[in-house]
Order: sequence, then C-alpha cells, then structure tokens
Amino acid sequence: MPIAEQVSPSSTALDLPWVRSQFPALAQTVNGHHAVFFDGPGGTQVPQRVIDAIADYLSRNNANSGGAYHTSRNTDRMIADARSAMGDFLNCDADEIVFGPNMTTLTFAMSRALSRELRPGDEIVLTLLDHDANFSPWKALEEKGVVIRTVKFNEADCTLDMQDLAAQIGDRTRLVAVGYASNAVGTINNVVEVVRLARQAGALSYIDAVHYAPHGPIDVRTLDCDFLVCSTYKFFGPHMGVLYGKREHLKRLRPYKVRPNTDNIPNCWEWGTLNHECIAGIKACVDYWEELGRRANPVVATRRAAILAAHQAIHEHERKMTEKMISGLLAIPGLKLYGTSDPQRLENRCATFGVRIDPHTPLELATKLGERGFFTWDGNYYALNLTEQLNVERQGGFLRIGLAHYNTMEEVERLLAALREIVN
Ligand SMILES: Cc1ncc(COP(=O)(O)O)c(C=O)c1O
Repeated sequence: MPIAEQVSPSSTALDLPWVRSQFPALAQTVNGHHAVFFDGPGGTQVPQRVIDAIADYLSRNNANSGGAYHTSRNTDRMIADARSAMGDFLNCDADEIVFGPNMTTLTFAMSRALSRELRPGDEIVLTLLDHDANFSPWKALEEKGVVIRTVKFNEADCTLDMQDLAAQIGDRTRLVAVGYASNAVGTINNVVEVVRLARQAGALSYIDAVHYAPHGPIDVRTLDCDFLVCSTYKFFGPHMGVLYGKREHLKRLRPYKVRPNTDNIPNCWEWGTLNHECIAGIKACVDYWEELGRRANPVVATRRAAILAAHQAIHEHERKMTEKMISGLLAIPGLKLYGTSDPQRLENRCATFGVRIDPHTPLELATKLGERGFFTWDGNYYALNLTEQLNVERQGGFLRIGLAHYNTMEEVERLLAALREIVN
C-alpha cells in the first residue's frame, strides 16, 4: 500500500533498543540460545504496559459493565477509551468499533447477520489466497442458496489475479471478501482496487486486515471499505478481535442477539460479557503505538498521526530486514521462496516468508530451528486453499518465518546461518 502518501516525511528511524526493552518476552533463552520470535503472524508478543493494564484492571476495576457503582463505571469508561483508541488505529469513529473474541468469531457473526438480507442466487466473491476465516464463514451461506465465486492467484508470485477478480464480480455480487495481506506468503493485495470494484458493482467489501495490521497503516475512511476486521494479538495487544463496520451497516443489519441486549451500536453486536481485562490491554496496546510514533516523530499532533509515524518507522525497519532475508534465503541451495522476491516490488509484500527446502519437511525445519531458539511455524496456517493449490498441503505446507518490528538484522543473519547449517 502507498504508505508514503499517508505519513509525514520528517519521521526518524525506529528506536529499536527502546522497542525491545518494552517486550519482556524477548529476553528469554531456549537451550542457551536467545529466543528469536519469528512467529508474529501467529501472534506477537506484548509490551509490559499491556500486561500491566490487564493486571491493573483485574486488581482494581474488575466488574461487569452498566452498573451504578464505581468499578462498573470505571469499566464502562475504560471500554469507551479503548474503542476510541481503536478508532484512531483504523481511522473511524468509536461507535464503528466492535470488540469480539477473535476475527473468526466476528466474521461468522457478520456472515449470519448479512445472510438475513441475501436471496438464493446472490453471489459472494472470495479468494484462494485468503485465510480460511475469510472464506468458510461466507461459504457456509451456500446452504441458503448463496453462490460462492472464487478468485485465483498467480502461482509464480502468489499475487491475487486482479483480472479474475474483476471477472468474478457481476450484477449478482453482494459481497467481496478479500485479505489485506496473506498470512502465509506475505502478499499485500491491492485492496483499494478491490473495494472500488466491489462498490462499482453495488457490492459490499469485507477486508481481513489481520495479517496486515502490524505491518502497515489502515485507513478505513480513505479505503472506503464497508467492513474491516483485525485481531489485536497480531499487533502487540491481547487475544481479541476487532471489527470495523460503517455506521449505516451496523445500524441497518440485524445481528442475532439476546432480547435484553441493547439495539444501539456498537453494543448490539457484542454479546454476553466482553473480555474486559483484554480490552484494557487493547487501550494500552494503542498507547504503545502512540509512544512509538511520538519517539519516531516528536512533532506529531494527534494520536492518529503518531500511529502513522510508528508505521513509517516500522515500515523502514522491516523493509531492510526483508531485503536481507530475501537475498539470504535465495542463496540457500534448494530453497523455494513463495511470494514475490522482486526487489522492485517489495512494497507489495510484508516481512512474512513462506519457504520450502525439499527434502526437509517444514515441520522438521521448524523443529530444528526451535531447538536453536528460533520460533517459526509450519503447515498451512489455515490458508488452506493456498497450500492446496500450490500442491504443498500433503507435503506439510511451508515453513513460515514471520518478522515483526521488534526483530533485528542480527536475528535475520542468525536465522539464515542456522538454516544453512541445518540443510547442509
Ligand atoms: C490473515 C488472517 N485472517 C484471519 C485470522 C483469524 O484470526 P483470529 O485468530 O483472530 O480468528 C488469522 C489468524 O492467524 C489470519 O492470519
């Protein structure tokens, strides 16, 4: 995405020593090796302030919401603050932010609500590049007569086939659900164009930004998408999901819910008691982003501007690590890197690398790396259509090396050396 358009040119580099000092988990060792967290796409570590906010909420304000007493009122205020912080993170209003247990649950809830206004023969466009959480909740609507159309991807570089996407969208399309970035191979999709094509056809757009959120700025206003989902545990917060919905849709659609629950948005989309301590952690997580941005660019005026400055600093750091990682990986004999490796097109990928080194299975590689203190992942990471189409599902999928902003160039070099040693 065009990050440069959205951020101030006066930002400075990421203050990496400060960043790392914020995350207590990074100090761990495994078998005498420094732990290297390359498992960000599965979930990132949290800064101390997130841990403190969760503990503090439980120590001093643990209560249900909506009560006429001190701790309950504090809880209501805390949730409102967290909503407004997430609104700044995504660039929307607080009442357009819905909290939930995770992205998958929120997406099933939304697919059920949307199905109430769909008719047999209506069409939903999905992609084969997506995580299954942005596929199965929509495919489930086939039982109501909804027709699912799937968009291919280009196998050579794992980019979405935009021509096919345009061809799949037609008069009967009611929704286009697309990922912002692939959690398996790192491809960043042209979601601006996806949203435009959907809108042009009179269809809604549903963007899965779970993988993209730690790597690039999200601006739902400029994007003009109808819905966007992300998970705070992928961008240094607690295990929760967040759904942005345009106010008009959140008001119009009818969520399945219990009778005493309010009809007001966004609460009518949030069922039962929420995970209050984690919501306190979400506010602290956005505070972290804000401080990171203010360190990168001390003159920013607003929280939103600070978040964008943080993204710019992160982007530059991750870009350098990406260049080193790609050239190092490609130099390993027999290694196949999925996703784009073209130095001219690195803006179209994030620092997530799906690789195979036959005859070593991804599990074997992840296990050997794990013994040396590197936390990577193996398998399909629920990007099932992708591994099936690439014919690697039965061979154990990929080894995924997923970088986050708290990783270092030295960690990248160490991983490359470890991989060379394992395969030799
Ligand atoms: C791209 C993507 N979408 C959706 C999900 C599902 O998110 P959650 O665990 O919050 O349901 C994940 C989780 O890994 C993901 O990477």
